[in-house]
Amino acid sequence: MCGIVGYTGGKEAYPVILKGLKRLEYRGYDSSGVALINSGLKVYKKKGKVAELEESVIGKDLHAHVGIGHTRWATHGEPSDRNAHPHVSNSGELAMIHNGIIENYVPIKNDLLKKGYTFSSDTDTEVLLNFIEDIKKNNNCTLEEALRIALKRIVGAYCILLVAADDPETIIAARKGSPLVIGIGKGEHFLASDASPIIEYTKEVVYVNDYEIAIVRPNELILKNLGNEKQTPFITKLDMELAAIEKGGYDHFMIKEIHEQSDTIHDCLRGRLLVEQSQIVMSGIEDHLEALTHAQRMVIVACGTSWHAGLIAEYMIEELCRIPVEVEYASEFRYRNPIIHKGDVIIAISQSGETADTLVALEKAKEQGAFIFGVVNAVGSSIARISHAGAYTHAGPEIGVASTKAFTGQLAVLAMMALKIGYSKGTISHERYLKLINELDAIPEKVTEILQDTSNIQAIATKYKDAHDFLFLGRGYNFPVALEGALKLKEISYIHAEGYPAAEMKHGPIALVDENLPVVFVATKDSYYEKIVSNVQEIKARKGKVIAIATTSDTVISSMADDTMFVPDTDEVIAPLLSVIPLQLLSYYVGIAKGIDVDKPRNLAKSVTVE
Ligand code: G6P
Repeated sequence: MCGIVGYTGGKEAYPVILKGLKRLEYRGYDSSGVALINSGLKVYKKKGKVAELEESVIGKDLHAHVGIGHTRWATHGEPSDRNAHPHVSNSGELAMIHNGIIENYVPIKNDLLKKGYTFSSDTDTEVLLNFIEDIKKNNNCTLEEALRIALKRIVGAYCILLVAADDPETIIAARKGSPLVIGIGKGEHFLASDASPIIEYTKEVVYVNDYEIAIVRPNELILKNLGNEKQTPFITKLDMELAAIEKGGYDHFMIKEIHEQSDTIHDCLRGRLLVEQSQIVMSGIEDHLEALTHAQRMVIVACGTSWHAGLIAEYMIEELCRIPVEVEYASEFRYRNPIIHKGDVIIAISQSGETADTLVALEKAKEQGAFIFGVVNAVGSSIARISHAGAYTHAGPEIGVASTKAFTGQLAVLAMMALKIGYSKGTISHERYLKLINELDAIPEKVTEILQDTSNIQAIATKYKDAHDFLFLGRGYNFPVALEGALKLKEISYIHAEGYPAAEMKHGPIALVDENLPVVFVATKDSYYEKIVSNVQEIKARKGKVIAIATTSDTVISSMADDTMFVPDTDEVIAPLLSVIPLQLLSYYVGIAKGIDVDKPRNLAKSVTVE
């Protein structure tokens, strides 16, 4: 987490950095700060969102052509002015920003304390910075050399940007485990955690690799490994437009992204789902068809909303491909010495492609010989790069902290994957294959239908906004949708919510049901329909308030429910692509009704690059 921005070149650095920090605020917004070099070092930092920093520096000297900026998601030390980055070294000569965690900072700090160093923050970053300064002093070496020595001795993850008061041109950067992109302009360079602060100035970027150090000046970009050997920067062209990272007339990114879903799902299917030819074209699968169709087992590794997409994929793949699937929280999988067999396929699902737990889990599985298939949204991200093969979700940049369009993009990719593998294996009939291809093709239009009029959902949100708890229930393909509905509501309304398989509700959660508990049933017409109707009755019999997601024109459910949100009919395998949308809208409108900053809910961050 944390967003970092750097600039060196002919422009004024501060406005470039400030705008970049605002674009990266989804990564963390506990505090922010900038360091500018112009006849000495000037550091300004402030607890709170970037707007508060902006306010606090009005009237200050901000003139500089080189600078670094940071927006923080706290790990070591509470959010406060003094724990905000950049940190300044004891000599006052160096300033540094950091995204990541230095795990062995305590013994290093103790050594430095013995040598008389003092610390004005509780952060691991300030320790690393003074460690670098101490090495530089003791070895009488360059800053770059001192950094290299320090990095070999620390354990953890980092992306750091470092500037020195006596060098008004240079930014030194390094990464391991936390992302860094460098934009190449004419006589200028931009550094950032992702491409969004850069896109407005240049489309030529270099994704820095782990264990690389970059020495960046207006007209020079030198990349080296930790062995001091020069590396050739690999220049990539961004295919993203500025409009994709702006709100485009909506009040929040979240609602913009919910409304984009018809287009983003369409973009995801385009060129892959060829209805007329009855074909699915996915080079990531075709090039590795043998490994995928002969997989003895698939293990899906993900976190958060992406994990919910993984649960739906488990149902899809087991039904259509007859391959056993396990779905793992990346953070659990990586630490428990998992058993990986030759022939296992690991599917990584990640919007950002940078989630630390997912990334490390994959590295471990890869070391043990697993085949890694990435389902990733952020092009060029770390997970995309370490995968053997993959398929991008093509949902475009997702900025709202609560994931929406990335989730439906993941489901679209996973559905195509399951169909393609299943059809190649012969585990689905031609008829069912054709039906599903056609149903999938119709999804974008059905999404538009749901989004045409959201006033009913808004009214339901207003009605239930003061509830203390919510229960979300579903069966089959809609069970993970219930989990996702509960997660969305928690994230952006701060209302406690639980998701459960509707039948399992009898084994505990039913004790919570009374006239004050809203129970959301994801109850579209599918093979579990009759069963879920009985579950609705069980809740009604206990006076619970039932909010149903039902298939358009289903009068059975709507006559039992207190409130109903309708979605068009489709095949149950891909029903979650539709049934999740009213839940995204419900949580958005509850969050808005409660006055919450839905794009930046408290304590969360969009890209979790710490373990
Ligand atoms: C964070 C985000 C979630 C996301 C999860 C996994 O917690 O707030 O929205 O689902 O990370 O992120 P990924 O980028 O790997 O999908």
